[in-house]
Amino acid sequence: MTAATAAADSLAESLVGRAVHVKVPATSANLGPGFDTLGLALARYDELDVEATDAADHRIEVHGVGEGQVPLDESHLVVRAIAHTFHRAGVPMPKLHLVAHNSIPHGRGLGSSGAAIVAGVMAAKGLLAGIVEFTPDELLELATELEGHPDNVAPALFGGLTIAWVTPEGPRHKKLIVHRGVSPLVLVPEHEMSTALARSLQPESVPHEDAVFNVSRSALLIAALIQSPELLLAATEDKLHQHYRAQAMPETDRLIRVLRAAGHPAVVSGAGPSILVLASDPSERADAIRLLEESADTEWHALPLAVDFLGATVTDAAS
Ligand code: HSE
Repeated sequence: MTAATAAADSLAESLVGRAVHVKVPATSANLGPGFDTLGLALARYDELDVEATDAADHRIEVHGVGEGQVPLDESHLVVRAIAHTFHRAGVPMPKLHLVAHNSIPHGRGLGSSGAAIVAGVMAAKGLLAGIVEFTPDELLELATELEGHPDNVAPALFGGLTIAWVTPEGPRHKKLIVHRGVSPLVLVPEHEMSTALARSLQPESVPHEDAVFNVSRSALLIAALIQSPELLLAATEDKLHQHYRAQAMPETDRLIRVLRAAGHPAVVSGAGPSILVLASDPSERADAIRLLEESADTEWHALPLAVDFLGATVTDAAS
């Protein structure tokens, strides 16, 4: 054994017994025109307890959403994100006892994979505290490397409304505080949608006038969300992604048309199939729910959710 290997092993051993609790919000990305850029954190959470152990293997328990469906070995997305972060830190990852309590629906466009990745990055940050520290940009970079695009992981990490962009040095974000009148409503169908399938329906290039259309609506959307909610219907128009994907989620497309025709700023949440309504007050939410009940052909769940302003948290837990 070399001196470097012995030092790494002793570092890993020193982590045994460390335990953290992580809480990560759901997110809705795109928000209409802000494809791969804008995201909003929502007050529905996955919570995890992660402990470093000296056991022979990982022990993973999942309760709630994903129970009996997600893998319970090192291919579990949270464990992969922890491993990725330890690798970047240059510290061998110990075996883990991980207990997840999930409430973010899977495959519905509410950022469940981004939340799992952020949970892993934050758990690793907590387990490595005092040994290796990470800046907010580094946390965003680690999470984006696994997710592929930053628009879900930025609000999951930092909360509120986030603008995320990619630079040669890595992804960056700006967090904004949403106007207190904005009252998000998420409408969730029973069926799932694959983000990979949704992305495969996007064209390689778009007409210049469509790009200009989305630039104007994205700029307006920032003003609407932080200052002028009365502009949300105009500000949530989009020509970059939703109509290309409509064939894969026809009922989502139809209900968005019904809601928008009645004046509600409804958009596909992330890659769908859920719908996000950016209502301006709680009574508008109630109207949108009534319209959904009258118009939907299949079963949908209405989730009135507050904006989460905190983002992901990690705290020490007694082991
Ligand atoms: N911006 C992403 C998309 C969000 O719409 O494909 C879903 O991961």
